[in-house]
Amino acid sequence: MQESVSVYEGTSRYVQAALSRARQAGLTPDPAFDQRLDRHLPLLAGLFGSLYGSRSDWQEQLAALVVQSARSWHDRPADLKALDAEREGSSSWFQANTMLGGVCYVDRYAENLDGVRARIPYFKELGLTYLHLMPLFLAPEPHSDGGYAVSSYREVNPRLGTMEQLRSLAAELRSNGISLVVDFIFNHTSDEHEWARKAAAGDPDFSDYYWIFPDRTMPDAFERNVREIFPENHPGSFIRMADGRWVWATFHTYQWDLNYSNPEVFRAMAGEMLFLANQGVEILRMDAVAFIWKQLGTSCENLPEAHILLRAFNAVCRLAAPSLLFKSEAIVHPDEVALYIDPAECQLSYNPLQMALIWDSLATRDVSLLAQALKRRHSIPAGTSWVNYVRSHDDIGWTFADEDAAELGINGFDHRRFLNSFYVNRFPGSFARGVPFQDNPRTGDCRISGTTASLCGMEVNPAEGVERILLAHSVAFSTGGIPLLYLGDEVGQVNDYSYAQEPGHEEDSRWVHRPRFPKEQYARRTEPATPEGAVFAGLQRMIKVRSGTPELAGTRLIDFDTGNRSVLAYQRPGSSGEGSLILALANFSDFAQALPAATFGGYSPAAVDLLSEAALQLDEGVTLLPRQYLWLRVTPL
Ligand code: GLC
Ligand code: GLC
Repeated sequence: MQESVSVYEGTSRYVQAALSRARQAGLTPDPAFDQRLDRHLPLLAGLFGSLYGSRSDWQEQLAALVVQSARSWHDRPADLKALDAEREGSSSWFQANTMLGGVCYVDRYAENLDGVRARIPYFKELGLTYLHLMPLFLAPEPHSDGGYAVSSYREVNPRLGTMEQLRSLAAELRSNGISLVVDFIFNHTSDEHEWARKAAAGDPDFSDYYWIFPDRTMPDAFERNVREIFPENHPGSFIRMADGRWVWATFHTYQWDLNYSNPEVFRAMAGEMLFLANQGVEILRMDAVAFIWKQLGTSCENLPEAHILLRAFNAVCRLAAPSLLFKSEAIVHPDEVALYIDPAECQLSYNPLQMALIWDSLATRDVSLLAQALKRRHSIPAGTSWVNYVRSHDDIGWTFADEDAAELGINGFDHRRFLNSFYVNRFPGSFARGVPFQDNPRTGDCRISGTTASLCGMEVNPAEGVERILLAHSVAFSTGGIPLLYLGDEVGQVNDYSYAQEPGHEEDSRWVHRPRFPKEQYARRTEPATPEGAVFAGLQRMIKVRSGTPELAGTRLIDFDTGNRSVLAYQRPGSSGEGSLILALANFSDFAQALPAATFGGYSPAAVDLLSEAALQLDEGVTLLPRQYLWLRVTPL
């Protein structure tokens, strides 16, 4: 203990000395920064030291990181500092029942950043408070993995606009109550990034930014334990460079994994992160978090150092962009997903388990796995929130835990095979029109592409398709967390099979569910007799009711067993002790389901369905129509 205190004091003196030198050289002293540093340096130094402490230059690197953060704080615009003061340490704003997210591609949805700006009135009509713009940075053409191969974090793709426009869009969104979310694609850069070009040219400093090896010895050793992510693109995890060396590329050949065992890489990426924060980005979607740390002899996914790294980035935010939040994108085993969720790590997380199990329930008409997940895996730490979604820009992977399934007598491998064949319409009677993604005959692995509407059966039976879309969203909107809409889904947009004609998209079936702005469908959203109008009206109703229902704030959920395998239920108590609860019911069956009065024995008989405003007598039992959902306000006895 004595020793570690003195090590820290030594480190702190080192950092202070570097900061004074920077100030002598012109950086303006700032007491607000000094206070933050006093508060957060012990944590940052501890995290940084545990990643890099074995290197002789680690304190120098840490000091440089702090000086760089001080500069970034100095440059942070006053309006963002005001936001910091308002939000720092508070989670109630993002846990509010009025929070609603939307996600879209700038070009596909609105041509460019000006087009996005022009859609703000629509976003307000919908009730969005959070807008995720898909990656919009400079990227190679035509292959950029939808922008997930970044060539410069400081330049907007010129087709979409400029950094200046992004900054003013962020400000305009904020003044309309909408937080801008963008990706922090920090696991890899494109092979056209300046760092990658220098590495390719043989510059040793930049070669150390990536995982580059002269021959197959190390790649072979790593690949013994590493999963293939995009097997249709290339086998294994390494690709051959023009000069014969091998570089790590988890995703596509042109996405090179950054080497975070090099503290220079951490510092460089922290700089890019703070740059984005100072443009007015309020939430960073931390892309592919599971992969950011590699260690020989392991799967190189979800390693303990990945968490330390995220916490260190988070500690940098506390110094220089205190209101910035992280959202974890970990599409992995649910035990691992949970480990990223913490106020000191990622305050927000996608909820991929709930997403996948909504689709499982729709296919099987059996809610057992979803109910089990809500009971067992929904609870997360105070000060954090889920982001609940029905689908994203990515494929649907069946990331439930095999051990959970086994408890219900379900074999995980067989069940995934069933779900895959169901959703690509190879199963008799399927309503879904999905497309396989990364079908790997060697391992039997496969994932699913398709828009919500197409996977819900819109092409097969529009009336039922509409009901399934709404049923799926009723879960994402009421279990607790920020609901996230893939824009276009709110008007029932179907698959776009012409994707294969677009250069760069032909080999990636995820483009089938990234269609362009459906103008005519949006125009029909106000006609209730059309499928578009029906979906839109149903979602609007949920959004309105949710934002007026304090019990739906936060993420607390109490499980509820209906005794009926087709009817999902859960209770939402809210946080302010209203005395009432919301009991959500959702019938995944194609037949009406009658729940007897005894099911509701714990409540007073009088209840109201908030969605239809109908009064119910629970002592008469409740019958749900096929695919019907109810949000009942009930009073526990
Ligand atoms: C994330 C993105 C996905 C992309 C991958 C590589 O998982 O969601 O679209 O392909 O990262 O960046
Ligand atoms: C893999 C990754 C996930 C990514 C997806 C893209 O499943 O684990 O992070 O979103 O690939 O398809």
